[in-house]
Amino acid sequence: MKEYSVLIIGYGVVGHNLFRELDGHGLLIDTVDKKRPELNQRRRNRYDVAFVCVDTPRIAGENGTPCDPSEVINAIRDNDAYLFVIKSTVLPGTTEAIRGLTKKRIIFSPEYYGGTQHCNNFHFDFTIAGGNREDCKKLIGMLQRVYDARHQFRITDSKTAELVKYMENAYLATKVSFCNQFFQIAEKAGVDYEELRELFVLDERVNPSHTFVYRDKPYWDSHCLNKDVPAIAEYFDAPFLKSVIAFNDSCRDSCRDRAEREQEKKKRMQDIRKEFTDPKWGDNIKKTSEFLSSYYGIYITGLLDTPDK
Ligand SMILES: NC(=O)c1ccc[n+]([C@@H]2O[C@H](COP(=O)([O-])OP(=O)(O)OC[C@H]3O[C@@H](n4cnc5c(N)ncnc54)[C@H](O)[C@@H]3O)[C@@H](O)[C@H]2O)c1
Repeated sequence: MKEYSVLIIGYGVVGHNLFRELDGHGLLIDTVDKKRPELNQRRRNRYDVAFVCVDTPRIAGENGTPCDPSEVINAIRDNDAYLFVIKSTVLPGTTEAIRGLTKKRIIFSPEYYGGTQHCNNFHFDFTIAGGNREDCKKLIGMLQRVYDARHQFRITDSKTAELVKYMENAYLATKVSFCNQFFQIAEKAGVDYEELRELFVLDERVNPSHTFVYRDKPYWDSHCLNKDVPAIAEYFDAPFLKSVIAFNDSCRDSCRDRAEREQEKKKRMQDIRKEFTDPKWGDNIKKTSEFLSSYYGIYITGLLDTPDK
């Protein structure tokens, strides 16, 4: 049987997880990462397949870009392989453009790893390969050494494969915002959200993933969603997604405001307690109250009722 040689370019979250998935199936796997030279090992000059797992940040601001593919281009330019498979999230059309620029064989395959239980507890038993059909079949041939025949392989064009990754991230973000919206509605209606959620997910048309609402963090906030949802919304000027982002921002801001207000209140109570226990006030509660109301203007009742901690 042919031994496939594989290079993983970029050993962050995706590169590391990909290594763990491919390792132990008779493939020769090397890794390179520009910030972690201790991981760099090249046992071949040219690899059968190179996976590109480098970061593609969103750069906000006037000269920003919705999704910066510079490192993807560098990774493909600086390495040699029969086939490059881009795992990094890139805007639709990027794979085709880099293929034209570098004249190398390049396809796109979206990645589904994540950093939380909302992703890691799920088994992704499918691979999407987008690009030239023969190139996609080359990747699938190699992955058939890793997965068994239940694994589903789908071939499409690179643009569709690129866009489906954004569609998925935008959908999950929307679902979190939708649930947070109903959490707010439930609070106003005097309904327990958790009970509501459990009834909601009884319907098999509603998948339960991403329906939890965390009271201390009622909004989405992850490395990928934070960069990918604004990127696709901006790039295609998508009003619905922009409204989802605006709603999420408002949830985050009101949560921050609330936390700041709580913090401020806590600090003022501590100041008051400190002042209140100062011996200079003796037992003269009236004087103390006068001082407190003139100095702070609030909290007198709360203070007298609140035990010192
Ligand atoms: N983190 C996820 O769960 C996840 C899931 C799906 C898709 N993605 C996408 O995959 C890509 C990588 O994400 P990540 O979370 O692994 O990023 P990361 O920042 O954790 O890792 C990227 C690594 O690539 C290295 N790198 C950058 N340029 C390089 C180059 N030219 N040559 C060699 N190494 C280089 C960096 O040093 C870094 O260690 C991003 O486009 C991201 O949107 C991430």
